[in-house]
Amino acid sequence: MLRRLHHDQPESFAFTPANQAWAEAQITKYPEGRQASAIIPLLWRAQEQEGWLSRPAIEHVADMLDMAHIRALEVATFYFMFQLQPVGSVAHIQVCGTTSCMICGAEDLMAVCKEKIAPNPHQLSDDGKFSWEEVECLGSCANAPMAQIGKDYYEDLTAARFGELLDELAAGKVPVPGPQNGRYASEPLAGLSSLTEYESGRTQYNASVQLAADIGDTVKRIDGTEVPLLAPWGKQSGQGTELPPDLPEPRPAKGEPVDKTGVTEQAAKAESAGEPKSAAPAELKDTSEEGPGVQPAGLEAARDGQPDDLKLIKGVGPKLESLLHELGFFHYDQIAAWGPEEVAWVDQNLKGFKGRVSRDNWVSQAKLLAEGGETEFSQRAKDDGIYEE
Ligand code: FES
Repeated sequence: MLRRLHHDQPESFAFTPANQAWAEAQITKYPEGRQASAIIPLLWRAQEQEGWLSRPAIEHVADMLDMAHIRALEVATFYFMFQLQPVGSVAHIQVCGTTSCMICGAEDLMAVCKEKIAPNPHQLSDDGKFSWEEVECLGSCANAPMAQIGKDYYEDLTAARFGELLDELAAGKVPVPGPQNGRYASEPLAGLSSLTEYESGRTQYNASVQLAADIGDTVKRIDGTEVPLLAPWGKQSGQGTELPPDLPEPRPAKGEPVDKTGVTEQAAKAESAGEPKSAAPAELKDTSEEGPGVQPAGLEAARDGQPDDLKLIKGVGPKLESLLHELGFFHYDQIAAWGPEEVAWVDQNLKGFKGRVSRDNWVSQAKLLAEGGETEFSQRAKDDGIYEE
């Protein structure tokens, strides 16, 4: 396939300030004279920001790396992961058309793309929301047929479910990625027939789906403010970005001393610097005074030692559940009682998950669950056998 630059190019390109800082920090990873090694991450970041790589974006990256424009153009046009034409404003859909997926119905999925998006790959839909292409094996063959939508995999698809997913995305929703036929991962559809003890102890979703649900950036463009900029290697070279002052040093896991004395190197340093022995365990608490809204009253511990399963609230995974526990929230009725001010505070203080409370409307979900009812999500989670009653 001939890969050319798009005929219609924007006037210019600039990284957002946060992406620019991120890109500059990446360059400091490489020794003097080898900055060109940063080209792929920088081009990728430009694509994550804009959705596709325009000529000004490629040239901007080349200038940052002190490379001839043609060298950067060679890289961008060589790798198929770089989109050289505008993609859908909501999502670019990549349907796997390799053997397993082809046998299991990839052509049906592409027929859906042709009908709902555009007759040809890399062509925008009439409303500009979607584009699609056929790609080679994405390594999820045991869950064929599948498609990558934005950053995540949607697996075990049928044409009907795939069509629904596109409708949901068009309506502004982000469906939960992963298997779409009730499978947890890639086990037999009827359930495990051996090693059944591994059925217990499941989290709400399999690990990669859980991560996707927790991060929640499946179809989001990246502006660089999503996660704090970390460039700890810069500390050694004196270049790059230092860890932000409000961010704690990385520490070994709790209870994992680095030497036989049981004292971690960091703890010893902190102690000799006159800091308290144990730094605040939760970063959340460091920022709990900031931001708008009113901090809701929390509990020291779950009532009767029995917390509600907060993961039955759509959008809450194990990570968020433990963050909520750290903030003193263990029960549906606590969340159900939050007003707009409390929602604003929690939204602001869920570090790494800002805005989740309002985005997934936790309060109304919690109200239903507190009354003993079910949401569509909690019912589905239980029907799928993920939860024991
Ligand atoms: S053949 Fe489709 S993911 Fe491998």
